[in-house]
This record gives sequence, C-alpha cells and structure tokens, in this order.
Amino acid sequence: MNPSQADWALITGASKGLGLAFAQLLAKQGQNLILISLPGENLAATAASLIGQFGVKALTVEVDLTTSEGRNRVVETIDKEVARLGCLVNNAGIGRNAAFGEEAYAFHKSVIDLNIQSTMALTYALLPLLERSRPSRIITIASLAAFQPMPLFATYAASKAFLKSWGLALGAELAPLGIVSTVVAPGGIYTNDEVRAQVRAQGLGGYLSTQEPEEVARIALAASERGKSLVIPGAFNRILAVLGSLVPDELKAKAVYTRWKKAATCRS
Ligand SMILES: NC(=O)c1ccc[n+]([C@@H]2O[C@H](COP(=O)([O-])OP(=O)(O)OC[C@H]3O[C@@H](n4cnc5c(N)ncnc54)[C@H](OP(=O)(O)O)[C@@H]3O)[C@@H](O)[C@H]2O)c1
Repeated sequence: MNPSQADWALITGASKGLGLAFAQLLAKQGQNLILISLPGENLAATAASLIGQFGVKALTVEVDLTTSEGRNRVVETIDKEVARLGCLVNNAGIGRNAAFGEEAYAFHKSVIDLNIQSTMALTYALLPLLERSRPSRIITIASLAAFQPMPLFATYAASKAFLKSWGLALGAELAPLGIVSTVVAPGGIYTNDEVRAQVRAQGLGGYLSTQEPEEVARIALAASERGKSLVIPGAFNRILAVLGSLVPDELKAKAVYTRWKKAATCRS
C-alpha cells in the first residue's frame, strides 16, 4: 500500500525517540503529519524542520493524551484540517523499571491511562475517518514485553500484552474493510541514556535485542505496507519470542525477574 500524497499520518509521542523516527520516515515518504506530544517539547520546531526538509505539511498538537480534553483537541484539529487520514501511529507509551509496590500507584495508573486507555479512545474516535480514507493503516507500538509477565516492569508489560491482543484483534476485524492494523513488538530501542545503561547492564543479550529507533520505525512501516498484523523487529528478538512461546509463563516470569534484578543491581 503506497501512501497518497494527500494523506495525513498522525503520530502520538512524536517529539522524540521512536515517534520522531516515524515522523521523519513518513515525511520522507511525502506524508503530511499531525504530531502529538505533551506540551513544552518544542514540537513546532520539529514540524518546521520536517516541512523545510521534505516539503510536507505538519500540524502539531501538544496535549496530555491521558485526558479527554487533550484527545478532544486532537480530534477537533483533525476535523478542521484533515480530509484523509492514511496512517495512525499509536506510539506514545510510558513505563519504568521498578518493583510494583515501590512505584507510586499514580504512576501505574498513568501507564494504563496512556498505553491502553488513550490508545483505545483515540483509535475509536479516528476510526470513521480511517474508514473513509481507505486503504489506511493503524500501527500500534507494543513491545517484546507483551510476550511474558515481566516482574519489575509488571504494569508496563501487562499494558503491552493488552495492546498486542487488541491490535491483532482489530487487524482481523478491519482487514475486510481495507484498514491494516499492525502491532509492533520491539525489543530495546536506543531512545535515551537510560536504555543505553540498561543495555550495557544486560550484556550481550541486551546488545543483541536493542535497535536504533530509525531501524524499528523502518521495519514497522514496511510491515504495515505489506499488510502484516504483527512484526517483531530484529532476528534475535524473533528467536526470543519463538523460544519463549515454548516456556510456561510462570517460568518466564522467574527468569525475567532474575535478569532484570541483575540489570537493576548493575545500574545502582
Ligand atoms: N525505548 C524502548 O526501549 C522501547 C522498547 C519497546 C517498546 N517501546 C515503546 O515504544 C514507544 C515509544 O517509546 P520511546 O522510548 O520512543 O518513548 P520516549 O522517547 O519516552 O517518548 C515518548 C513520547 O510520548 C509522549 N508522551 C508521553 N506521555 C504523554 C502523554 N501523556 N500525552 C501525550 N504524549 C505523551 C512524549 O512526549 P514528551 O516528549 O512531551 O514527553 C514523547 O513524545 C512506547 O510505546 C514504548 O513503550 C520502547
């Protein structure tokens, strides 16, 4: 599926990391962009740079997507400015490495609010436009964490397991309507210094399972263009997912606990 020049792509969490990599690649393809992030990230400068480099249009909406006011502002902007939405990238997501009881409850709630609730609500609100814009696509960023319970990352991994199940179910429902839903399950992504420290602490396994954001975004876009419903970027990560499927969840939880505990000890 090749994007039409007239199409727009919406990317949540576009100010940095994987979302920014999606914005750059989609702009390079000639897609107009609606970029979303929290306020105060100078998203307008990112938009201006993409407009200058690639000659596309770019709108920015700086809102907290966990609030209905924030999501309404996104939908209002689209209603006003966008006739065709060819691509929705559900990328914004948060998570933090800590024991469940040691993290503030409010943070666990914000993980669910952003990773699950806002993704579902925004997708639901934009579905009629995606349908009118067919062929169109939804790309949802889950994680390799979606494939097993993850002690010390429990709420995040469970939220990503939700997204994997939800995105795959949407894929089956929407394919006959001409909308592709692709779930992306990356291992690590070199998005900030904390990830780099975690990779170093995990040794060879961390190194083999981590990729640059540009590479993950390129693989995800190519998979959605081919109509794939699930993509795991990186050969090592695909092997981990296949081998992991042979191991009971209970054992995987214990193994992951040992691995993350070691990483946490090395960092501190
Ligand atoms: N990094 C990894 O190793 C890794 C691995 C697997 C999967 N993933 C997934 O990949 C996706 C992107 O991760 P990343 O590491 O690139 O993230 P990141 O660098 O932390 O960027 C997160 C983006 O989401 C935005 N955001 C956060 N909370 C928001 C809210 N309440 N409302 C609106 N926007 C909000 C941030 O905006 P501000 O800049 O304004 O804060 C930022 O643009 C996430 O879904 C993550 O779970 C990451």
